[in-house]
Amino acid sequence: MDVIGEGRAEPVVVERAAGVGGELVLRRAGADYEIISNGTFLMDTRNGESERLLVRAAVDAALAQDEDGGGAGGGGARVLIGGLGVGFSLAEALAHPAVGHVTVVEREPAVVGWHAGPLRPWSRGGLDDPRVTLVRADLLDVLERPAGGVFDAVCLDIDNGPHWTVTPGNARLYGPVGLDLLAALLSARGVLAVWSAGAAPGFGDLLVSRFARVEELPVPVPRGEPDMVYLARRP
Ligand SMILES: C[S@@+](CC[C@H](N)C(=O)[O-])C[C@H]1O[C@@H](n2cnc3c(N)ncnc32)[C@H](O)[C@@H]1O
Repeated sequence: MDVIGEGRAEPVVVERAAGVGGELVLRRAGADYEIISNGTFLMDTRNGESERLLVRAAVDAALAQDEDGGGAGGGGARVLIGGLGVGFSLAEALAHPAVGHVTVVEREPAVVGWHAGPLRPWSRGGLDDPRVTLVRADLLDVLERPAGGVFDAVCLDIDNGPHWTVTPGNARLYGPVGLDLLAALLSARGVLAVWSAGAAPGFGDLLVSRFARVEELPVPVPRGEPDMVYLARRP
């Protein structure tokens, strides 16, 4: 019996794993799953609206920059997703008709493994899609040693936001050095998208100081402050 008050199911631990960035816990609550990372509630499978918007808005904005609206180099838009999580963003990218290739950077082997099992319905088996390259690495390391490619949409959701990182090292991503490395990954029409649980004071200004056009897209959630998606065009 795992149903408790207000129709919410009491979470049951499915698996604990020693992660690269601290302990990872996968919990099941009724039909849904939750990920706890390094003691921080990271996300669950209940909604996903803002995680999907993160990708859709970035790809659409990149296409809007492109006069002919066609894909990059004729092969479709190239997307980088930082953080696999439960896979909402990956599934959204693969469902977008203009997307030709998706690179997913995820540092936690346990998270990747869960997509062969309980989380597979949320990524819709996306890791097996031939258009997907999985890079099992720390995103910060990938940024510091870029492989040479550029992306039309760089979609980042590795934390609860610029001011609420799951591990201290991730904070570098949202500062001037991290943003400059991200800008260097963008194609001529490229767009950076950053997810945040709520507005991140000062972050929008930092984007404005480095990128061409910045938008803040609030996404209402059932309880609390709206999630926020920051969009920034290549400088
Ligand atoms: C909030 S979840 C991503 C949610 C995702 N947008 C979705 O739709 O499900 C964050 C993910 O980023 C991963 N992550 C955290 N820090 C990372 C880092 N430095 N490099 C790569 N992945 C990281 C976590 O393991 C987790 O899978």
